[in-house]
Amino acid sequence: MNLKYQEVKNTLKKYHQEHLLVNYNNMSDKEKEKLLSQISEINFELIKDIYNKTKETITFENSKIEPIDCIDKSDLSKEEKEKLDSIGDEKIKLGKLAVVTMAGGQGTRLGYDGPKGTFILDVKEKISLFEILCKKLIQAKEKYGIYVYWYIMTSNENNKDTIEFFRKNNYFSYPKDKIKFFVQGELPMVSLEGKILLNEDGFIKFASDGHGGVFESMEKSGVLDEMKQNKIEWVFIGGVDNILVNMVDNTLIGLAESKKCLAAGKSVIKTNSKEKVGVFCLRDNKPSVIEYSEISDDLAELKDKKGELIYSESHILCNMFNIKRLEIISKNKLPYHIAKKKANYMNEEGKIVISDSPNAYKFESFIFDAFTSLESMVIMRVKRQDEFAPVKNAKGVDSPETAIKLYNEFYARD
Ligand code: UTP
Repeated sequence: MNLKYQEVKNTLKKYHQEHLLVNYNNMSDKEKEKLLSQISEINFELIKDIYNKTKETITFENSKIEPIDCIDKSDLSKEEKEKLDSIGDEKIKLGKLAVVTMAGGQGTRLGYDGPKGTFILDVKEKISLFEILCKKLIQAKEKYGIYVYWYIMTSNENNKDTIEFFRKNNYFSYPKDKIKFFVQGELPMVSLEGKILLNEDGFIKFASDGHGGVFESMEKSGVLDEMKQNKIEWVFIGGVDNILVNMVDNTLIGLAESKKCLAAGKSVIKTNSKEKVGVFCLRDNKPSVIEYSEISDDLAELKDKKGELIYSESHILCNMFNIKRLEIISKNKLPYHIAKKKANYMNEEGKIVISDSPNAYKFESFIFDAFTSLESMVIMRVKRQDEFAPVKNAKGVDSPETAIKLYNEFYARD
């Protein structure tokens, strides 16, 4: 009996995960080796810890939550804005900005079979999310005379298809050497009873470890080092699914520089207390975000004297970090949050289970958990109709239909 197999068996027994070998005897030698390696690399203590947290209710009783100051872009005077913009313009022209697009998510709500960035929208022309973002960078080239480095974070699940999509589309005419891909980390998915899941082929069912995984993977993949070599100072990090995202933002850079702040984020006003967005706040005097799934109704509905929501600065996943700060953040471990997702898997009898409702936990770290390690952060409020048109759900709010409408209205105003 092979030694590795025995070691794996002992570990699995200790953690009550023996079912992971259910398909072992049906596998080729190569497949057996792959499965044993996958299991050996799992941090079972970590999985146990995160799973146990699914039983805890999150409360903020022990933290002091307060509203955070923000600067409304539309309140800046003409002179102020020009001054900030010129600081930003200079940095961009000198090639000090890089853009990271996080495209490693599963896009389950959209229900599209393929990397979300390859989803096609019909905005007067048929165009993919990736191409919409690329067009923004091409516009920036026209304005600043420079091709900004574009880093795309993928997951093991969609890396191959993403790269192939770019290749097939000739990188949307952006210089190939200015586009780089890197793969984010992943963690096993777990059943609601705490059993690690196997995929339909009997291997471990991994899922990407959340957008907070961006920092660690930038470090591990060498992206951070490369940025340093290229003398990058500011890194804009955003999602793949906001088709009005403004990634090359001179005002934001100007603000962060002038306030001597090493991080900045953009917000839009929450439409109503129930909107499913996280909101910026101060948690124990540090910048933070409370997720929509974690905020209590009381806090979400709290109003000021003017009757306006106090916690209303929506986090729209448009953040920018100074490279010096990224080096520190990338070495810190972020906490994991729990999401219930639909998962097809091989059960403990070796049978395939197809699910049409959430039946498994996915563990994710969130980018904004890194904010609490910052001394301060500039929050710039922008207009929703200018910068926020997310594609999240197949139908209804934040769907292709609503995003296309916002997009077309924005370009009709231009
Ligand atoms: P969301 O949290 O909206 O998730 O991601 P999603 O994967 O796109 O969709 P659902 O929740 O499964 O329906 C916001 C952004 O963060 C990226 C996504 O690709 C999207 O651009 N993301 C999310 C990652 O890059 N990796 C992750 O592990 C999670």
